[in-house]
Amino acid sequence: MSQFLWVIFPYLALALMIVGSLYRFVYGQRGWGSKSSEILEKKWLRRGSLMFHWGMLFVFGGHVMGLLIPISVYHALGVSTEFYHFNADLFGGLAGLITFAGVVILLWRRTFDSRVRANSSTSDFVALILLLIVIGIGTFETVGYNNIFGAYEYRTTIGPWIRELVVLHPNAALMKSVPVVLKAHILAAFSLFAIWPFTRLVHVFSLPIRYPLRAPVQYRSRNRYRHY
Ligand code: HEM
Repeated sequence: MSQFLWVIFPYLALALMIVGSLYRFVYGQRGWGSKSSEILEKKWLRRGSLMFHWGMLFVFGGHVMGLLIPISVYHALGVSTEFYHFNADLFGGLAGLITFAGVVILLWRRTFDSRVRANSSTSDFVALILLLIVIGIGTFETVGYNNIFGAYEYRTTIGPWIRELVVLHPNAALMKSVPVVLKAHILAAFSLFAIWPFTRLVHVFSLPIRYPLRAPVQYRSRNRYRHY
């Protein structure tokens, strides 16, 4: 069972994410992206979307710092365990709460605004509900669980597990002692990765990073220029 949950399932989910996204990019490019609903409702979209995207940026940074950077690097830099977890809990918790509030607003808007709901597909709801579950459990771990039971040292279990997974050297045993809330968070995250290509989340792969460098578009008036 542990081999399935921590080796086979993650690889299946990632394979589905990569192959599914490539397939959709090649054969379904007309529907690639996140169909905007701004024209239908603006006020709550702006609030929810800003909170969600800014929060996610910090949450993503936190995951890189906590999972991809080995604990030995922190020790070499003289960062104590207490200092690391104090900051991870404070800033990670804050980012988690903002992201969670954002996703609640987005789901609430999609459900209760009749115009947005009428223009939503099942996959829009599935993606938002799974995001709510993943972010909800992660934030609960950081803000609630850690304060009740003490900070969990994921840098010696989940960190090495995910790095080994990435370099195709999986080791399910590393996940054995991980608290069940974090296991649920990770399994929900990989379920999200598995459905990724079939939802509007594919727009993440089209981040316009070259946008500031592209040639400017020039707009000219149809009417004659006035000369003063
Ligand atoms: C590869 C899969 C993932 C792993 C291994 C993972 C692992 C973790 C860990 C170890 C924590 C810290 C818990 C603590 O503070 O004790 C955490 C927190 C969190 N995770 Fe994840 N996570 C994954 C994917 C995701 C995804 C895809 C999302 C969002 C869509 C997400 C959202 C969050 C949030 C909001 C928090 C709480 C705030 C924070 O600490 O940054 N996680 N996760």
